[in-house]
Amino acid sequence: MKIFLDTANISEIRRAAEAGLIDGVTTNPTLLARASGGKDAKEIFKEIAEIVDGPVSAEVVGLDAETMLSEGQRLAELHPNIVIKVPLTEDGLKACRQFRAEGIGVNVTLCFSPLQALLAAKAGATFISPFVGRLDDIAADGMQLISQIRQIYDNYGMETEILVASIRHPQHVVESALMGADCSTIPPKVLWQLAKHPLTDKGIDAFLEDWKTLGQDL
Ligand code: E4P
Repeated sequence: MKIFLDTANISEIRRAAEAGLIDGVTTNPTLLARASGGKDAKEIFKEIAEIVDGPVSAEVVGLDAETMLSEGQRLAELHPNIVIKVPLTEDGLKACRQFRAEGIGVNVTLCFSPLQALLAAKAGATFISPFVGRLDDIAADGMQLISQIRQIYDNYGMETEILVASIRHPQHVVESALMGADCSTIPPKVLWQLAKHPLTDKGIDAFLEDWKTLGQDL
């Protein structure tokens, strides 16, 4: 499963890229507003795309297909790694089909139902982003959506990649991998938690204590 970092924070992206942990980055307008510090959004997308060797999702803000297309075409020119993020609306699907005809990668976002995911795949989306955490927030079952989309895509050999989004904790990542999601986009705080285990820390402490008794250097 590919791991994407869900942030526009450059230092977190650098840290994760240097650790060799990420295959791409996703952003959205909220994440940009949090990280921009007054910097131009297009500059941030470019900077991220230069750091990461993989797809970087940049979201359009227009609501009609025509505006989405002109915004997306400008964003796609910034760097070959840029993938255009469009919302799962009728206009978003229309723009998706056109971007794909032009050879531009598309991430269809704000997916909350298996039928929306089916339509995105039929529109040729590169990625579909089902938001599991936001479904859990309203007492629905976010991970059940992933399993439904996996089954539908497999039934018809649909190549759109399932990019699990709105991840809140490591268990979402475990279940995504078990269900065969293609990618998970993970907030930095959760990414760093993935490598942690108290028994690993305890084991290191015990080994170092025992090593000291040898009184040797390596
Ligand atoms: C990523 O593509 C999504 O925009 C993001 O995962 C949404 O996460 P949130 O529900 O925590 O805002």
